Amino acid sequence: MDSIANDFIGGIRLPNGTITQGKRSGRSLRRRNAVVACSFELAGMRVLDVGCADGLHSMYMAASAKEVWGIDHRASEIEKGNATAKALGIGNVSLRFGDVRDPALFKGVEKFDLAIAWGFLHRIGDIFGLLYSLAPMADAISLEWRTPIVPLLSSLSIAYHPPGNRPLDPMNIRAAGDHDPANDREKIEGNTAFWEPTPGAVKVITQRLGFVHATLIGYGERLESERKALTRHWTRHLQRANEGKERLDRLPRERVHMLFEKKQGLIAIKDLSTAGERLPPWDVALHDAVARQTTHNG
Ligand SMILES: C[S@@+](CC[C@H](N)C(=O)[O-])C[C@H]1O[C@@H](n2cnc3c(N)ncnc32)[C@H](O)[C@@H]1O
Repeated sequence: MDSIANDFIGGIRLPNGTITQGKRSGRSLRRRNAVVACSFELAGMRVLDVGCADGLHSMYMAASAKEVWGIDHRASEIEKGNATAKALGIGNVSLRFGDVRDPALFKGVEKFDLAIAWGFLHRIGDIFGLLYSLAPMADAISLEWRTPIVPLLSSLSIAYHPPGNRPLDPMNIRAAGDHDPANDREKIEGNTAFWEPTPGAVKVITQRLGFVHATLIGYGERLESERKALTRHWTRHLQRANEGKERLDRLPRERVHMLFEKKQGLIAIKDLSTAGERLPPWDVALHDAVARQTTHNG
């Protein structure tokens, strides 16, 4: 059992019926990302998943894409993801160890139709470096990251550096529990928090790189609109600041999910409200989490 726990991603039903051991977070953010991954129309397409970790999103997308490449600089996650993909018989996913900032990684590699970088932008020190190196690799980029919540989010170009924030490591190793500490420690980029850009800032950078069309997929775990996210976070923030319960400069933050395209309509997104039905049956942990949530919500 121990070996199943270590070699595979936990909570997955292998074709022989075994369910792999191991804890996985049931947070709805995970479900949200799975929903988006299963909602992209990717028939015949090649996809690049930057910072893929254990490659689950790559595997969701492989159900419809022609081929998916995942890149991560955490060797233990890549090994585990490849073992899981192989055991599930998913042959069109290839997870590779590497640092995405290394130009040699993509030398001679054919351009992709879509590049995704989820949970990534706020975990690297150089946002420009990442976007500039991804731009020639694909005509569409899907980004998911943590953004400060301020009025005019989609038009203001602001990169926020959270004051007094606890150090953020780029790899979430504190949460993973199953990492290779020697390998991971080498890769952490200093004891620092990173930049959190507004959608407006990312739009300006990507526009200069030719991504003329931006689509907001949504904010937060429920993919709500900008107006809803603002109302929910910003009004409460001002109220708390007025009451002296919060610092005005410690901005509320939320996850945002966007798609940037060099030409509108390159990547179609299926109806997100029915995406739950498209989640892969082998992801038992995810289905359990959804069931628990539904029961919990009544
Ligand atoms: C917060 S995790 C997000 C994982 C996954 N994309 C998701 O949305 O669940 C960030 C991932 O990016 C990887 N990463 C960070 N910097 C990287 C770099 N320079 N090159 C390759 N991978 C990197 C980390 O190892 C980690 O697995």
